[in-house]
Amino acid sequence: MTQQQPQRRTILVTGAARRIGRHLALAFAREGYSIIIHYHTSGGEAESLLDEVRSLNPDGHHSLKCCDLTDAIAVLGMFRDLSTADSLPSVVVNNASCYRRRPLCGESPTELLNDLSVNFLGPFEVMRQYHEFSGSGHIINLLDYRVGLADPASGGYGLAKKSLRDATEACALEWAPSFRVNAIAPGLVLSPPGVPPERLERLVGRIPLGCRTTEADLCEAALFLERTSGVTGLTLYVDGGLHLLGAGHTGERTATSR
Ligand SMILES: NC(=O)c1ccc[n+]([C@@H]2O[C@H](COP(=O)([O-])OP(=O)(O)OC[C@H]3O[C@@H](n4cnc5c(N)ncnc54)[C@H](OP(=O)(O)O)[C@@H]3O)[C@@H](O)[C@H]2O)c1
Repeated sequence: MTQQQPQRRTILVTGAARRIGRHLALAFAREGYSIIIHYHTSGGEAESLLDEVRSLNPDGHHSLKCCDLTDAIAVLGMFRDLSTADSLPSVVVNNASCYRRRPLCGESPTELLNDLSVNFLGPFEVMRQYHEFSGSGHIINLLDYRVGLADPASGGYGLAKKSLRDATEACALEWAPSFRVNAIAPGLVLSPPGVPPERLERLVGRIPLGCRTTEADLCEAALFLERTSGVTGLTLYVDGGLHLLGAGHTGERTATSR
């Protein structure tokens, strides 16, 4: 496959239409990046975000990409389209995810496969196709502070994020020096969709730094990784110190929220 040099200062954020992904897209737009807004089902929110990034960075070449990341053919098509349009990103943030809290040993084979598909296989396919189509680049994978814990309560989600951490390190080695691959492991930021925020508030008292991780913290971390050209293979914990505690100390074995 012909490799192209990506245009400079263009970022693809997966799952960008809402929540953390939206904040990341806005932060990079403020820094002058062109934004490729990936979404799956949140088309209306993605359109609104496109308007916002256009007003923040009117000179940028911003666009929308809709794709189910669990469909490897669709991921290939997304990168083929970007390559054809000569708009491959200089950095990709693998943000899209689906968190379901359920005991690992209680998951059916189908549930386990779904968790692994959306939280590992999809993001890994994004990494591979980006590497395949681009001559150089930077990947930032959004993990979870639980990658540092023995946590049987996060089911296939936890396994998937641990696999993505390992892939971060393996690909950082394999693809150096033309690609950098890094990761951010957030702590408690937002309750999962549909879960009342009060549940997250109850866990905040257990965080060593005493407050939840903010979306702004994550944006700063992503900008740091992007600006620091000597860093690769790093998992940067942005979690107020949660990963320093065991799963028992954080209530992970019994809590029903993030
Ligand atoms: N929230 C937290 O407190 C927290 C804590 C630790 C780690 N994290 C990590 O930080 C990242 C962002 O978290 P978040 O809570 O903002 O994420 P989220 O709201 O759960 O999901 C982000 C987006 O992922 C997209 N997505 C889900 N399945 C998809 C699929 N099959 N194909 C394509 N896109 C799909 C959805 O896009 P559409 O809406 O367009 O369908 C969704 O809006 C995640 O990687 C998460 O694991 C978050």
